[in-house]
Amino acid sequence: MKAPLTRRNFLGAALTSAAGLKLEAQPRPVLAVTSVAAGKPALLGGDPVRKEPFPSWPKTQQNDEQAWMTVLKKGLWCRMDGSYAKEFEAAWAKLLGAKYCLATASGTTALLTSLHALGIGPGDEVLVPPYTFVATVNVVMLVHALPVFVDSDPETFQMDASKIEAAITERTKCIIPVHLGGSPADLDTILAVARKHKLPVLEDACQAHLAEWRHQKVSTLGELGCFSFQASKNLNSGEGGAILTNDEDLIKICESFHTNGRGQSDSGFSYVRNGCNHRMTEFQAALLLTQLSRLEEQSRTRAQNAEYLTKQLREIPGIAPARMYDGCTRNAYHLYMFRYDKSHFAGVPRARFLKALQAEGIPCNGGYTPLNKEPFLKNTFGSRAFRSIYSADDLARYEERNRCPANDRLCEEAVWMFQTMLLGARSDMDQIAEAVRKIQSQASLLASA
Ligand SMILES: Cc1ncc(COP(=O)(O)O)c(C=O)c1O
Repeated sequence: MKAPLTRRNFLGAALTSAAGLKLEAQPRPVLAVTSVAAGKPALLGGDPVRKEPFPSWPKTQQNDEQAWMTVLKKGLWCRMDGSYAKEFEAAWAKLLGAKYCLATASGTTALLTSLHALGIGPGDEVLVPPYTFVATVNVVMLVHALPVFVDSDPETFQMDASKIEAAITERTKCIIPVHLGGSPADLDTILAVARKHKLPVLEDACQAHLAEWRHQKVSTLGELGCFSFQASKNLNSGEGGAILTNDEDLIKICESFHTNGRGQSDSGFSYVRNGCNHRMTEFQAALLLTQLSRLEEQSRTRAQNAEYLTKQLREIPGIAPARMYDGCTRNAYHLYMFRYDKSHFAGVPRARFLKALQAEGIPCNGGYTPLNKEPFLKNTFGSRAFRSIYSADDLARYEERNRCPANDRLCEEAVWMFQTMLLGARSDMDQIAEAVRKIQSQASLLASA
């Protein structure tokens, strides 16, 4: 049986290459192998364009080990005892230009804590994109609100901001744009609509470390912004998250909620609100501080390689790299995404194109499925809790509003490559483009075989 697509096996695929080489092998510059371009597709037994693995992830250096061991030996592993979480919060807030940062256990708990701080709850509607990781939507339902999907802009893979206003009702209480793949959503339009309707914006920047909108770091433009430091992310501590805001009242609620509702983080057994334990450990924070010292340089390498790759791919008929909005002054390139049009590839279906590309030694996958059609929504709405909040009519009306035709098409055409593939040599990009060109030149063979 085919293994389901998970972040873990995608990351594995991105690191090992189709030729099945070892994870720990380091990248080395390779020459663009133009001679195989016209050869038989690797999927049909020809020579693959690439036989080496792409760069491995995570990257570690000696100071990561030292930081980890220092926490271990100090014995202060919880943030209530130690100082690393506070130090990381100060560093991340300063780098992003935000007044406040709260470290959390994950991106999901950062989003959940933020929704609590905004007071979102039963009966409320929250606008979300259908093209995102499921956590963006799960957190809305965890506070018993309804996620209302705003269709995607297929050119950019982001929430189509021009469709937000039509989705707003008197129940709408928040907008969650996601900076998908590290490319900012259209914040000019989103913030203007939000201001007009007096709605808070919670930026899901879980994939967008150091991305910028008009030279301002994303996560700092809405009321709150959230990051993930999960293993696949551009800044990584295995798991982890952070909330950014300039609002003192909101950060106070977040701090309290994330540590079981304490009045202050060190207030012992004294509680002022309902809360949870979403604290980051000192190990995570210490690792983030050392990883952070490499983020800027890695981000620059990703962007340079991605821009170089885009120049080549957009020359190939039927390949449309994700466009950025004019306001995007920095893309974090957590994902490299493009759309595939099979009519330029002798009708070869996307699934076969992906297999052919993988066989050429280029890890890739087809990305998200349409979240608005996933069974978890219906199953959650059928739960006793939801049925006691929402009437059958509410839920029937919800289904009517829940169609995203542009996103359906996008999910059929998308092709993803992963951030670590952008960390190597420029010649790696030549090989990616070459593999696509090779598949195109041999498409009729692939279509008939
Ligand atoms: C867009 C988006 N939102 C939220 C999350 C949740 O983050 P975490 O996995 O750290 O809980 C992720 C993680 O993949 C994400 O990509």
